[in-house]
Amino acid sequence: MKRSAQFLVAAILAAGVLGAGLMLARAAPATAGGSSDGTGGDLRAALATPQDIAEGKRVAEASCASCHGLSGIAKSKDKDMPNIAGQRPGYLYLEMRVYQNGGRGNTPMNNAVKFLSDDALVKVAAYYANVEPAQPTAASSVKSEAKKADPLSAGKAAASGCAGCHGETGNTSAAGMPNLVGLDPKYLIGAVKAYKSGQRKHDMMKTLVSAVTDAELDNIALFYALQKPAKAKTPSPGNQAAGKSAAVACAGCHGEGGVSTGTAPSLAGQDAQYFIDAMKGYKDGTRKDDAMKAPAASVDEAAIKNLAAYYANQAPQSPKVRKPLTVEEMAQRCDRCHGVAGNSTDPRAPALAAQRQEYLERVMRAYQKGERKSTAMSAMLDGVSDGDIVSLAAYYSRQKARSVVYMPLPTR
Ligand code: HEC
Ligand code: HEC
Ligand code: HEC
Ligand code: HEC
Repeated sequence: MKRSAQFLVAAILAAGVLGAGLMLARAAPATAGGSSDGTGGDLRAALATPQDIAEGKRVAEASCASCHGLSGIAKSKDKDMPNIAGQRPGYLYLEMRVYQNGGRGNTPMNNAVKFLSDDALVKVAAYYANVEPAQPTAASSVKSEAKKADPLSAGKAAASGCAGCHGETGNTSAAGMPNLVGLDPKYLIGAVKAYKSGQRKHDMMKTLVSAVTDAELDNIALFYALQKPAKAKTPSPGNQAAGKSAAVACAGCHGEGGVSTGTAPSLAGQDAQYFIDAMKGYKDGTRKDDAMKAPAASVDEAAIKNLAAYYANQAPQSPKVRKPLTVEEMAQRCDRCHGVAGNSTDPRAPALAAQRQEYLERVMRAYQKGERKSTAMSAMLDGVSDGDIVSLAAYYSRQKARSVVYMPLPTR
């Protein structure tokens, strides 16, 4: 294959309004021809002739239409079915090769493409790439789910049951109730789980958090971590200066001024009464922790009171937690490869716009679990929460799909 023919120009067409809003974009050069055996089927599918497409339609009638229809748009009752209409030709071709090799697991596709020749794959890919893409899902049908997935509002809602004791934003005004604002999410989550399991003994807290799910707990912890830090609005009798000297022994774990940077909880701004109760618990063994055993044993009641007063008057800081990205911000990172609003111009990178939400969710989870293999995608989805997957899937399913026409770059 001539080098000059290996570069493509992609023209994005506004769906339905052919010719209007013509936009040129250069697709990534298909230098290796794309496929491992060097046949360059992905490139041939992108540059198919009208006759190839007509022959591809016959393959589709015989081998694909029973499931995908000739339209390539899935019926809503077929939950597992993706839209393939208007999908990028190189990608369609390459995925069928993946199915032929069993690379996407055991799916209805494996048998459907098993005995098709390379030529048939090229042509049927060209056919589906050239039919009108699906209309995006109406925002109204996905909105509620996307909203539910916003972790910060979900955390606020779930924390409403805690506000009566811990304060609206985790800033307590009742002596004996710990401040939760300023606590690192990892510590807060660990503490709640310890109440649940009974490892940290407190019957009331155990009952209160017994119905909180892990997902809710993550959101609650995030919510408190992102509130403006403030000292507990409770009295703190005791000698702060004496407390300050005694606190030298604690700074290694709890940080300067009680702002921890490690696994020990921050103490800055903590309610003094709760602080005293906690120290008594470590002392008499009702609260068990290896790290705190010796420090608690080393201080008497008066020293504890002074330490409590000192820490209660230190300024708490926000834990190092970044505000989660909005779905639009996340999608900008995806659009680098998948094109603006999921309209890829690279013939081998799948378009995501107007793809079905259920399908997008399912394949993203498959990448995360390693069931579907792609180095780029497992890196991209590493550490992405399930809530974000739902939001991203909802976002792309409601983007307008635009079809693409590929042309070889004219040689000079
Ligand atoms: C027996 C039903 C059936 C037949 C026949 C069938 N498919 Fe599929 N196809 C599916 C299902 C189900 C999936 C989703 C599988 C998965 O999750 O990997 C799928 C997935 C695909 C995908 C992956 C879409 C993506 O975005 O990654 C492509 C491409 C595809 N089919 C093309 C075709 C073509 C072309 C034909 C005809 C040669 C065909 N299929 C025949 C059921 C079928
Ligand atoms: C009825 C009052 C009350 C309610 C409601 C309540 N808590 Fe508590 N919470 C307490 C008390 C009292 C403690 C101290 C228990 C102890 O001594 O271990 C505590 C302790 C905690 C701690 C440990 C703090 C630390 O510094 O180790 C966390 C975390 C916590 N609560 C989270 C929650 C969450 C999340 C909710 C809502 C789902 C909630 N609490 C609801 C009273 C309450
Ligand atoms: C070796 C590290 C280490 C040292 C030193 C240390 N702590 Fe701690 N401290 C911890 C850890 C870890 C926890 C969390 C234990 C738990 O989950 O019960 C903790 C918990 C606490 C708590 C409970 C906080 C809460 O939110 O429930 C108080 C109060 C406390 N420490 C005070 C002190 C004081 C006062 C000193 C110095 C006299 C001190 N600590 C020294 C590691 C340390
Ligand atoms: C570095 C380039 C790159 C980035 C960035 C990227 N992707 Fe992908 N994505 C790919 C490639 C290549 C494939 C095809 C992989 C395969 O063969 O399975 C793909 C496949 C997918 C698929 C499967 C499409 C289908 O029809 O089956 C989805 C869904 C997807 N990506 C979503 C995302 C999301 C969401 C993001 C952002 C969080 C993202 N991608 C970021 C390169 C990328």
